[in-house]
Amino acid sequence: MINNFNYLRISVTDRCNLKCRYCEVNPSAKLRPDDILSFEEIAYIARLTAQMGVKTVRITGGEPLVRKSITGLFKMVSEINGIEEVSFTTNGINLDLYASELFNLGVKRFNLSLDTLDRSKYFELTGGGRLEKVIDNIRLAREIGFSPIKMNVVALKGINDGEIFDFIDFASKNGLILRFIELMDISANAGEFFSRHFMPVGDIKNIISSKYKLSPCTGGANECGFKGAGPAAYESCENGLKIGFISPVTSHFCDGCNRLRLTASGILKSCLLRSGETNIMKMIRSGATEEELKKTIQNIFDNKEKARGEFSEKNIMFPNMSQIGG
Ligand code: 5AD
Repeated sequence: MINNFNYLRISVTDRCNLKCRYCEVNPSAKLRPDDILSFEEIAYIARLTAQMGVKTVRITGGEPLVRKSITGLFKMVSEINGIEEVSFTTNGINLDLYASELFNLGVKRFNLSLDTLDRSKYFELTGGGRLEKVIDNIRLAREIGFSPIKMNVVALKGINDGEIFDFIDFASKNGLILRFIELMDISANAGEFFSRHFMPVGDIKNIISSKYKLSPCTGGANECGFKGAGPAAYESCENGLKIGFISPVTSHFCDGCNRLRLTASGILKSCLLRSGETNIMKMIRSGATEEELKKTIQNIFDNKEKARGEFSEKNIMFPNMSQIGG
């Protein structure tokens, strides 16, 4: 059987050096070091999935660049036969520590989470983050040669909806690809925040269209001149910028989804929205054979195939994003 699942997201930690209001749900519920996958275990699982068709790996968190010696993991994963590309998603705070080393290992692209360009708003939204640090690190990463850098903005009504043209100018000036993401209601205590600040992608497009004409990239991401298969629908903005729109809430994208996810606690999931899938770490630690592990992975692939389109507005329960890596 041919697997269409060629993309693996690996969350390497549930910890983060920021506390974004929409993301950090329960700061005290951190995994203990023994309860997270070791680099060897991650690389082993990645190798098995690569043998089954995975070609692209994204390292996420939490914040991946807070995990000790993280470049060692990038090296191990990059060296796996069949893995053609390794990238990561970061808030940019620790980029200066690792950017050169990562680039030298062959990591050429990353996604940056940045929801405001206002210093004090950034400080407040992220629970104490310094915006200047992130902006300096973007400059550094560009000098080193990272490309493309995609800037992810979670759209937040009443918080950053007045900055949409600032984001466009910033991305244009700094050679970034801009992507707007709809806020997901990820836990019971996020409910109030969600109802106050949720903003559909359609509203963002309307605001942009008041100044710039937007035209869909009908041929998908490639027509926009860069790689990136995934849930974003890209449009060309009249000023030349490519803008991606990711709408997990107003339109699901199960059909195009090619992803597997591995959580820091060792659970291999076929879908962001499904809970309770197999804990591969426990299997490895209790002595499962390679064959048994591969069979389990194949089952997860197969179940995903069956589950496509199963989700409707009603039964969505977004999990805690700091555990599964977005
Ligand atoms: N809704 C939408 N996006 C979120 N992210 C984290 N939490 C949420 C949420 N509740 C985003 C991050 C990052 C990406 C991996 O997921 O900002 O850009």
